[in-house]
Amino acid sequence: MGWKTLDDMDLAGKRVLTRVDINVPVEDGRVTDATRIERIVPTVRDILEGGGTPVLIAHFGRPKGKVVLDLSLRVTLPALEEALGRPVTLIETLEAAERDTEEARAADILLLENIRFHPGEEANDPDFAERLAALGDVYCNDAFSASHRAHASTEGIAHHLPSCAGRLMQAELEALEAALSHPARPLMAVVGGAKVSTKLDLLSNLVERVDMLVIGGGMANTFLAAQGIDVGRSLCEHDMAETAREIAAKAARSGCEMLLPRDVVVAREFKEGAPHEIVRVEDCPQDAMILDAGPDSVAHIQQALDRAHTLIWNGPLGAFEIAPFDTATNAAAAHAAGLSRSGKLVSVAGGGDTVAALNKADASEQFTYISTAGGAFLEWMEGKTLPGVAALRA
Ligand code: 3PG
Repeated sequence: MGWKTLDDMDLAGKRVLTRVDINVPVEDGRVTDATRIERIVPTVRDILEGGGTPVLIAHFGRPKGKVVLDLSLRVTLPALEEALGRPVTLIETLEAAERDTEEARAADILLLENIRFHPGEEANDPDFAERLAALGDVYCNDAFSASHRAHASTEGIAHHLPSCAGRLMQAELEALEAALSHPARPLMAVVGGAKVSTKLDLLSNLVERVDMLVIGGGMANTFLAAQGIDVGRSLCEHDMAETAREIAAKAARSGCEMLLPRDVVVAREFKEGAPHEIVRVEDCPQDAMILDAGPDSVAHIQQALDRAHTLIWNGPLGAFEIAPFDTATNAAAAHAAGLSRSGKLVSVAGGGDTVAALNKADASEQFTYISTAGGAFLEWMEGKTLPGVAALRA
């Protein structure tokens, strides 16, 4: 695949600077979803088994180059120690890491304090990258979900040390390459979410690469309005009409079948259990909002899924956070999950809300691969080169 893995590295007696993404949700001082922490376990375990000492480098939130006590990685220690089954020693400053204290030498696993406390990190300052590199012998990047950032710990450092991909990075890249670079066709994408404007590059890239593209969520309204359909009070970017028409024309030129809603669920207010009705898209009442795709649209998506051999999913089909406007997302996700379970479909999903939506639909377990990445997943789907991945290839 063009990059080294832990199997190619001599780890015995080495300090392995390991970039991980443990940027996890925290509430009241506790980690509320440890998925990202659990996903780094194979890498840490393999470094330890190879005789190396993992020195974890990570960010938490966006402190913008300053020490922000609320954004200390200390809050992740209990969840890290539970997942790894060993003590983890937090090194609070770079100076302490450089002094190489007795405590640090005796530790199994080290964790450097939030790397974004240093301005050199996001600036990808070459001196800072060199300073970081001097803390270890080998660099391992296991943070696919942060590798769209050209920062010192994701990019700069790789130029100073023998470098490799960690197990999670490997798994992400293999799954994503299989889905978009060498997919079994027909290849289908589901793209939902609120706005076309945030997913323009994504849609433009996808219509040239996929055979079927489902557009859902608020952005579907923009496409419908661009066809002259009155979407009432629905979320809609009317100023993106021309762009939506260009994307549709590009899809037609590329032989990509675009699936827009045929019927929709509309309501007068955006709240749980709000009175609602199902109408054809042409019949959306002027005082109503489209909050979900309707049953005919769902059947249309399910038939397309039956034809597809590979699926990439990003974004919900409706206002999935509140019932009953999660119905279309749940039904389409359950259908994709069933096809994946029976081996008929390779399904890959990722990006912010998507994983939450699939978890809510109880579908994520059966998907072939669920990425831990948000922004990085989107940039990868847009066809962009991720600096952290490119640096491993160099
Ligand atoms: C994420 O949560 O998607 C990654 O950790 C990247 O975080 P960032 O958007 O603050 O760079």
